[in-house]
Amino acid sequence: MVTNNQMHYFSFTFVLCLGLWAFQATSRNLQDDSMHERHEQWMGQYGKVYKNAKEREKRFGIFKENVNYIEVSNSVGNKSYKLGINEFADLTNHEFVASRNKFNAYLDGSSTKTTTFKYHNVSAVPSTVDWRLEGAVTPVKDQGQCGCCWAFSAVASTEGIHKLSTGNLVSLSEQELVDCDTSGEDQGCEGGLMDDAFKFIIQNNGLNTEAEYPYQGVDGTCNTNEEGNHVATISGYEDVPANDELALQKAVANQPISVAIDASGSDFQFYSSGVFTGSCGTELDHGVAVVGYGVSEDEIEYWLVKNSWGIKWGEEGYIRMQRGVDALEGLCGIAMQASYPTA
Ligand SMILES: *[C@@H]1O[C@H](CO)[C@@H](O)[C@H](O)[C@H]1NC(C)=O
Ligand SMILES: *[C@@H]1O[C@H](CO)[C@@H](O)[C@H](O)[C@H]1NC(C)=O
Repeated sequence: MVTNNQMHYFSFTFVLCLGLWAFQATSRNLQDDSMHERHEQWMGQYGKVYKNAKEREKRFGIFKENVNYIEVSNSVGNKSYKLGINEFADLTNHEFVASRNKFNAYLDGSSTKTTTFKYHNVSAVPSTVDWRLEGAVTPVKDQGQCGCCWAFSAVASTEGIHKLSTGNLVSLSEQELVDCDTSGEDQGCEGGLMDDAFKFIIQNNGLNTEAEYPYQGVDGTCNTNEEGNHVATISGYEDVPANDELALQKAVANQPISVAIDASGSDFQFYSSGVFTGSCGTELDHGVAVVGYGVSEDEIEYWLVKNSWGIKWGEEGYIRMQRGVDALEGLCGIAMQASYPTA
């Protein structure tokens, strides 16, 4: 493992989705009345309450724009994925991204990469992998409005290797990482890196369970008693060679993998089903876990990705993201900074 105290980090300038406004003009003739009705219905469905009429009107305006964007997106271009009016429909893309996507990408990752890749010589990989079917994936979790996606990503791959090495699937604690992993660059709800989370778990001699150190969704003080309870241990971690989807496939064929992606777009915010083919860039801002791969009925290759935005988002909390794209970085940069714990 390589450490470098001079590592530089930077926060992202988030990409705003210009499409949101581009499509607005086409929907001006929609009746505001029926849209108000839909907003009210949606508020009931998701238990939304606004603090006053002004806030409600503001949220209605955003909801209306988002609904128009979603409906236009679903009706043009014969896309392989659908968007949905989900619980995030009254948030602008900027608001949404700012509160959740806090993977702190490296300014220069090359100096901090590990150099060994234990799956380098894997020659045959199955055509389909789904670690859920092997009981190596816990139910989808919900990070809420705390930018600790990095902790959820690191925990998902740690849960996976723990199951594969011990036979036991145990839901592990993100909150312990949020509260206790503060000596390096990880900053709880303000962001962090999966590799730094692995370093913490190694140095701490393990991680406690979700049940013993439950998720709170806010920064807290480290509970040192619970921190001392080491239920799942890892011995190290490795980075998957960057910009190599085949290397990523070899790794995923062997265990769930932590990846960073660019999840900043409106299409990601409202993804509902199908194989996601973009749009997105490669400004990594979100940590998730690849728990399989396959080929869709439309014969599009995909990565099976576990997100941490609850089960109402996407395909019951998962997204299938296109695999084998022309760009070496992979769709949304999925092959740029993949890594996994070893046991
Ligand atoms: C739409 O996409 C599907 C699957 O990707 C494809 O089979 C079909 O031919 C497409 N239809 C049109 C009209 O392009
Ligand atoms: C891959 O195989 C080569 C040749 O047998 C060997 O030298 C190397 O150590 C292997 N790499 C790994 C990661 O197992």
